[in-house]
Amino acid sequence: MSKLYIAGIGPGSADYVIPAARTAVKSAKITIGSKRALDLFPEASEKIYLNVKDVQEKLEMAVDLVHEGTSVCVLSTGDPGFSGVLKPIKRIIKDKKLERSINLEVIPGISSLQLCAARLEIPWDESDLMTFHGRENSVEVMDILDNGRPTITLPSKSTADMAQFLLDNGVNPKRKVVICERLSYSNEEVVASTIEKVAQSNFTYMCVMVIY
Ligand SMILES: C[S@@+](CC[C@H](N)C(=O)[O-])C[C@H]1O[C@@H](n2cnc3c(N)ncnc32)[C@H](O)[C@@H]1O
Repeated sequence: MSKLYIAGIGPGSADYVIPAARTAVKSAKITIGSKRALDLFPEASEKIYLNVKDVQEKLEMAVDLVHEGTSVCVLSTGDPGFSGVLKPIKRIIKDKKLERSINLEVIPGISSLQLCAARLEIPWDESDLMTFHGRENSVEVMDILDNGRPTITLPSKSTADMAQFLLDNGVNPKRKVVICERLSYSNEEVVASTIEKVAQSNFTYMCVMVIY
């Protein structure tokens, strides 16, 4: 029976790709992912590239291919279950009423939040994890910001935008934050700063932001 694998690829470096993800790619006839994800899997037999503009279309294609009898592996950065492709794929399967006929297997990956917690030596069961990825920043972060635990976040648009949002909502401009940028890559940066400085900064989109 054909299978739909959703495999986490980790934060980006090949050192953090787990063997089970490679096994899933080898088991699938087609592997779908971004260029940075597919570059990690030279063993993939047939590759389909996706980009930010055609994610939905390519995920629907993955589900249709599996329904027609072809095994497919969809690659998701970090872990598929945290702001990854698990949620949209489950929605597509539900909308197509294919819950009973798609054989799904999710292979977890090391999330950028996990690597961030490791770098900063934060036990992440003593922190709060939040994501604004794919949506607007929201005041729900204000409810947890002063509970004494670090808040580990994936920003909405950028770290500067997120910092400005916090300033606009009355957070102390001197409050400590740490930005973890391009985790696991050779040009990784871990920068301790303040909210007011980050609001004026120019980090790339590939950042996890920790608010202390
Ligand atoms: C679509 S979300 C995917 C999150 C992913 N599922 C995870 O578990 O890490 C993409 C966001 O994750 C964060 N991210 C992914 N890889 C990263 C890395 N290597 N370093 C820092 N942040 C990263 C960035 O905030 C990026 O905008």
